[in-house]
Amino acid sequence: MKLLENYIQQFGTVLSDGVLKVDTFLNHGIDPKLMVEIGKEFAERFKKDNVTKIVTLESSGIAPALMTALSLDCEIVFARKRKSLTMIDHLYSANVYSFTKQQSSEISISKDLISGSDNILIIDDFLANGQAALGLIDIVNQSGASVAGIGIVIEKSFQPGRENLEKNGYRVESLARISSLEENKVSFVQDTTENYTFKH
Ligand code: G4P
Repeated sequence: MKLLENYIQQFGTVLSDGVLKVDTFLNHGIDPKLMVEIGKEFAERFKKDNVTKIVTLESSGIAPALMTALSLDCEIVFARKRKSLTMIDHLYSANVYSFTKQQSSEISISKDLISGSDNILIIDDFLANGQAALGLIDIVNQSGASVAGIGIVIEKSFQPGRENLEKNGYRVESLARISSLEENKVSFVQDTTENYTFKH
């Protein structure tokens, strides 16, 4: 997605060879116009998949997921990293290990919010090692719902997230695919605007 690549080049900061800071439009500040376009692009890529619900993870997944839900005219639910006062039991939960943060956390969604008849599109802001997406897939599987695919705003293609998801049979659509952050420079995988053909 050219617009997103332009945002990354213009407003992103390379913090190290492995980490890109995009706090002005995705992870802290949120750019509404960009989010609308992101929603439209995900909707275009998944419009034939009969998606009934979008599942994401708080907090940075919510904005792109919400805009996608609006474009696809479907429901949205976000997994919580901390249980709220009202989330006492009746939950689907999964453990997510973050290699970046070197810690595990439990994510949860109420059993009332996903049903076995749902066809779920998982949306997240970053794909690094794929652990967050695998945790969300675990929760969807517990509910008996099916996974239509995984939509990622920014994929770090030099990390194994895509491979970890595809080897488990899941389709991954990423709007920007970063091939390298070396030498303080963002490089993209060629043809990120194309739809990738998913092969089993
Ligand atoms: P994984 O799920 O793909 O395995 O990723 P990982 O554990 O490595 O990432 C943990 C957190 O760090 C996630 O956010 C993820 O989105 C974020 N992250 C990973 N790589 C980058 C990067 O290069 N740049 C930025 N800006 N974020 C990155 P989180 O803790 O869930 O944060 P939030 O959603 O509450 O904002």
